[in-house]
Amino acid sequence: MRTNIVHEGADELTYEIRGIVRVAERLRDLGVDIVWENIGDPVAKGEHVPDWIKDIVAETMCDDASFGYSPTKGVPSARKFIVAERVRESGVTLDPEDILFFNGLGDAISNVYTYLRRSARVIGPCPAYPTHSSAEAAHAGAPHITYTLDHRKNWYPNLEDIRNKVRYNPLVAGILIINPDNPTGMVYPKQVLREIVSIAREYGLFLVSDETYARLSYGREKMTPLYEVIGSDVPAIVMRGLSKEVPWPGSRCGWIEVYNKDRDPVFARYAKTLVDAKMLEVCSTTLPQLALPSIVGDSRFAEHVRLRAEGYRRKADIARAVFSRIPRVIAPCPESSFYYSVVFEDGVLGGDQSLPISDPTIRDFIGREVEGVAPDKRFVLYLMAATGVCVVPLSGFNTDLTGFRMTLLEPDEKKFKDTVERIAAAIRAYTGNS
Ligand SMILES: Cc1ncc(COP(=O)(O)O)c(C=O)c1O
Repeated sequence: MRTNIVHEGADELTYEIRGIVRVAERLRDLGVDIVWENIGDPVAKGEHVPDWIKDIVAETMCDDASFGYSPTKGVPSARKFIVAERVRESGVTLDPEDILFFNGLGDAISNVYTYLRRSARVIGPCPAYPTHSSAEAAHAGAPHITYTLDHRKNWYPNLEDIRNKVRYNPLVAGILIINPDNPTGMVYPKQVLREIVSIAREYGLFLVSDETYARLSYGREKMTPLYEVIGSDVPAIVMRGLSKEVPWPGSRCGWIEVYNKDRDPVFARYAKTLVDAKMLEVCSTTLPQLALPSIVGDSRFAEHVRLRAEGYRRKADIARAVFSRIPRVIAPCPESSFYYSVVFEDGVLGGDQSLPISDPTIRDFIGREVEGVAPDKRFVLYLMAATGVCVVPLSGFNTDLTGFRMTLLEPDEKKFKDTVERIAAAIRAYTGNS
């Protein structure tokens, strides 16, 4: 090309959660029965969407309005519903004009970083959910700046790390919180949130709080929404969506709530950019917005979500009981969402370990695939070839830790236990730990 057309951040766009699927599909073609533990889609994993939710969607679809464009910021009844919910649940005041709908939070995340000034950085948690870390890094054309979630301390954020990185890097303009977190399933304690808010206040930063899994917490730590601790001065963007809670990931429906916009003119201008950009795009998906008040406002919704979360808690307990017996493995029990991340202590994984595979075609194929990959990806590939279980290496979450993330989505608890036990047996065989 006469001119280089490659974006400066092109190399930052990685998504191992789906990247691993290429190998899994090849193994499936070779006859391996794949157990999909990589993607956080409850529907794909076999969770039943209740009939009453389907009835609401079907009824909403009968309204011609569901086939039309919606206003740029979103359907007014959906925005009013969200505002009323905030008042009822937390006594928080939110202007419906400060809610902006997107085609799923993936779209919101992409816009939030794309329209940030090139030099301004948002520091985020590590391990990092790649949709945030890749989009932020691509926007800056430089690796994502992270703070540590400490796997030896229940995956809680290292506040000293946040404070130091903010203090010594004036380009950091914002702090990202993912609460409840993906991939760790951790919930930020209220006091930790307060400390992060106070760092933002002290250094003049804004906050982004991705709360996709807000209603799916089941542990000892109660999930605190950011707007309950933000006060009336620190600018913030809270992200919520329908994908995980309904669950309805195919709706492509998520939104941002902008708090304390007018406390800072620069933040207000940035927030306006997000609306202007959405206007160019016209609007977001209409049908799920129209259905939202009837689904979330239904008297059955809270119980539906509670029962689902209870199921994840039971599976988290099953997995913890198995993983906690494996030497040199650290597996803090998640408190929310439907992910379980397992870490290997330093030095447990090397570059020459493998698992026995009887089929020579599969053995040769995976032998080629593991060449030059990170140690935990090597384990994950051997695990998949030998047992069929497809998980995501932790190195795919922008971290130096070695380990993997599985989901708690399998609806059949017996099958779930069997999968966990197969993983545990593979860890023992692979590492020589008994
Ligand atoms: C923390 C987090 N944020 C955002 C998303 C994207 O969700 P959506 O389906 O709304 O694009 C996900 C999806 O897994 C997620 O885990």
